[in-house]
Amino acid sequence: MKILIVGGGGREHAIAEKIAENPAVEKIWAAPGNGGMASFCELVPLKATDVDGVVCFAKEHAVDYVVVAQDDPLCLGMVDALAQVGIPAFGPDKKAAEIEGSKIFAKNLMKKYGIPTARFETFDSFEAALQYVRTDAPCPLVVKADGLALGKGVLICQTRDEAEDALRQMMLDRKFGASGSRVVIEEFLTGPEVSVLAFTDGKTIVPMVSSMDHKRALDGDQGLNTGGMGTIAPNPFYTKEVAERTYREIMLPTVAAMNAEGRPFKGCLYFGLMITEDGPKVIEYNCRFGDPETQVVLPLLKSDLLTVMLATTHGTLEETEVSFSDGAACCVVLASGGYPVKYASGYEISGLDEASARAHLYHAGTKVNEAGKIVTSGGRVLGVTCTAPTLAEAIRKAYAAADLVSFTDRQMRRDIGQRALKAEGKA
Ligand code: AMP
Ligand code: GLY
Repeated sequence: MKILIVGGGGREHAIAEKIAENPAVEKIWAAPGNGGMASFCELVPLKATDVDGVVCFAKEHAVDYVVVAQDDPLCLGMVDALAQVGIPAFGPDKKAAEIEGSKIFAKNLMKKYGIPTARFETFDSFEAALQYVRTDAPCPLVVKADGLALGKGVLICQTRDEAEDALRQMMLDRKFGASGSRVVIEEFLTGPEVSVLAFTDGKTIVPMVSSMDHKRALDGDQGLNTGGMGTIAPNPFYTKEVAERTYREIMLPTVAAMNAEGRPFKGCLYFGLMITEDGPKVIEYNCRFGDPETQVVLPLLKSDLLTVMLATTHGTLEETEVSFSDGAACCVVLASGGYPVKYASGYEISGLDEASARAHLYHAGTKVNEAGKIVTSGGRVLGVTCTAPTLAEAIRKAYAAADLVSFTDRQMRRDIGQRALKAEGKA
């Protein structure tokens, strides 16, 4: 089979590595891919959002299956466009991708079908939103831009003044672009967060091993929100009881709700959960694999990824085996100094061979320069993942490997997994 992967981050590298294990795979292209994927995939110089370009390429090269890994091409309808020319693809169509593409759609879906989530109001007028936060709204509260905003369109406000400021930034100054023309204002929830990815073919839903992201830039969950500075799996807060409840109260109802709305979801559905005192609640849905969650989840997958992906597309998930190893995984992200605000690129990366002998090295912001050297080219540069029978061992191994990789101004958190280890101790 000839496969095309659309995207170029650590998630796509992890997906490509796993797909390459299938002996039927003879060729993998990545559009645009990255410096690490270049070692076993052919890179295609197309943007992940270039729907026409990707469709043309897939037709010309007789691609058998396309994996659309990134949110924006899914929301732009890349899977629909490929289907029109007869090329099957992993991921939801445009109508189903709206579960991530519009927070207002997702919140209304949950309300209509009784899926647990934070209480909320939606607004498309600045004046009405302002009136609400000045009078009725409970504080603290959370203001969210309706559309895709690279994970940045969520502002937690402790006071009414902060909420007013957030609305101004989103709705008037358009700090997050057009995605802020409509907003959700919701109740602030507390509790540990859990990410759960699940395969679904629109009928059956199969959760993967749970994970925990570390979103803040600095140790101790300080600093700015980032795309994710590391992950561990499984997440100790996602106990068997919580998992069963989530499956029953959230996962099955979500699949049924999407079907009832005429938007069957096929692909990977991401549940961002908060485990509150009243049970698990949905903080967000994503219509794709999470990043960096994928970088700990897929190394623990025992089954063949491509077989499972094809089953989601063909509606045969029920009869397909999906199993995970009992061990744990830890991914430490190495970022460019100054990320997520301002950082320099183009620095040569050393120690890659030594580290890759001990760990999965998932490239994100890297490229091969004219001299053939791998250099930094983005904010998040690499994810270093190790698996082990225990979480403590996975963390130790991941840091030992991460410490072998160096580049100018390398930035990483030293405490990935520590909160989980403490929780394990209590469990
Ligand atoms: P999201 O992009 O929706 O995942 O939100 C980013 C982060 O904001 C989440 O991972 C949470 O830490 C936080 N967050 C979002 N919604 C809420 C909420 N209703 N209550 C508390 N924290 C939230
Ligand atoms: N790690 C969060 C996300 O993929 O959206």
